[in-house]
Amino acid sequence: MRPTRAEIQLGAIAQNVATAKRLVGNAVQVMAVVKADAYGHGAVPVAKVALDAGATWLGVACPEEAVPLRDVGIRAPILVLSPTAPQQAEVVVRLGLDQCVSDPEQANPLAEEAAKARREVRIHLKVDTGMGRVGVSPREARRAVERLARFPPLKLVGLMTHFADAEAEDSSFSREQLRQFGEVVEGLKAVGVSPAIRHAANSAALLCLPESRLDLVRPGIMLYGCHPRGRVAAGDPALAPALRLRTEVSQLKDLVKGSSMSYGRTFVAPADIRVATLPIGYADGAGRLLSNRGEVLLRGKRVPIIGRVCMDMLMLDASRVPESRVGDEAVLIGRQGDEEITADEFAGWQGTISYEALCRIGPRVPRVYMGSGGACVEGAAWCFRSYLR
Ligand SMILES: Cc1ncc(COP(=O)(O)O)c(C=O)c1O
Repeated sequence: MRPTRAEIQLGAIAQNVATAKRLVGNAVQVMAVVKADAYGHGAVPVAKVALDAGATWLGVACPEEAVPLRDVGIRAPILVLSPTAPQQAEVVVRLGLDQCVSDPEQANPLAEEAAKARREVRIHLKVDTGMGRVGVSPREARRAVERLARFPPLKLVGLMTHFADAEAEDSSFSREQLRQFGEVVEGLKAVGVSPAIRHAANSAALLCLPESRLDLVRPGIMLYGCHPRGRVAAGDPALAPALRLRTEVSQLKDLVKGSSMSYGRTFVAPADIRVATLPIGYADGAGRLLSNRGEVLLRGKRVPIIGRVCMDMLMLDASRVPESRVGDEAVLIGRQGDEEITADEFAGWQGTISYEALCRIGPRVPRVYMGSGGACVEGAAWCFRSYLR
């Protein structure tokens, strides 16, 4: 098997779901957000573990992401969190998904497909209280509900909104969003419309704004063990990082003072150095912005990445680890010995956030699931899956 792989601790996901459940209490349901292949962790294993640990809903970004979940027999409700195009309506109906509707114009294709299949589609109306990208404005909500009521196969079961900066120290914008959402809920109630499920909270709101938990919460990043603020503050609940990105040294060589390294010759050895080459590159999710910037753990020590990161390889100055050998484990995200590189740190070197760094781990990186019964490989890439079968 390829030495470059992502090890995923399913126990950590279960623990983080349990933390979310403990925080919100029994009256509030937990939707595990497993879009983008569960933020790079693998949607099917994560969904199964999250449901076993107490989540009762799953959230995906598009109906196609629900196909592998239904294929393995998951019957739990799955909400498509983004609006879908008319040609995707058939999948929504066939898989019995809940669909977010952010404009009444989206009702027609859904209703037509539902009528064809003689089925009902459960919809959640998205109210835009400040995120600005999709959703009806609070002002338009009542009229949108009236228009949706003209499509009998559509059953309005949810009202939802999404926070723009619930992770900010200053929660005033989130509170205002919540106030506007509350007004919409009350306004609709006054005219006899009370969808059963009101939901708003992502990880940040779940953690930082308890009054936003309503009937259901929609945590994503915290289930994978990362704090939405990108750092842990005093009083934050402990989250268990679920993913470790590791590889093994493929070659060691000496570079004499003055020699250059990699494409563009952006690194010139300031002295004689020992170079360790790793079989991981930007095609695997170790982005080019790590060039001459990031660090990797080798024999429990941090060593710098030197020169440009290539598509399939990157190089380290391993001079401070003279005992290193070909085949040594190298860790890009996770713990080795007493040292740890968090997903946030790995992301920070690349000018991004843990969310993007995790879901950019490429499809040719096998995901290895570490459970109590040992490791099990379920490569995300089709090639590894078929090879192992
Ligand atoms: C509508 C919606 N709800 C919940 C989430 C989960 O967010 P987070 O990963 O910050 O918890 C997302 C993710 O972007 C989302 O789009």
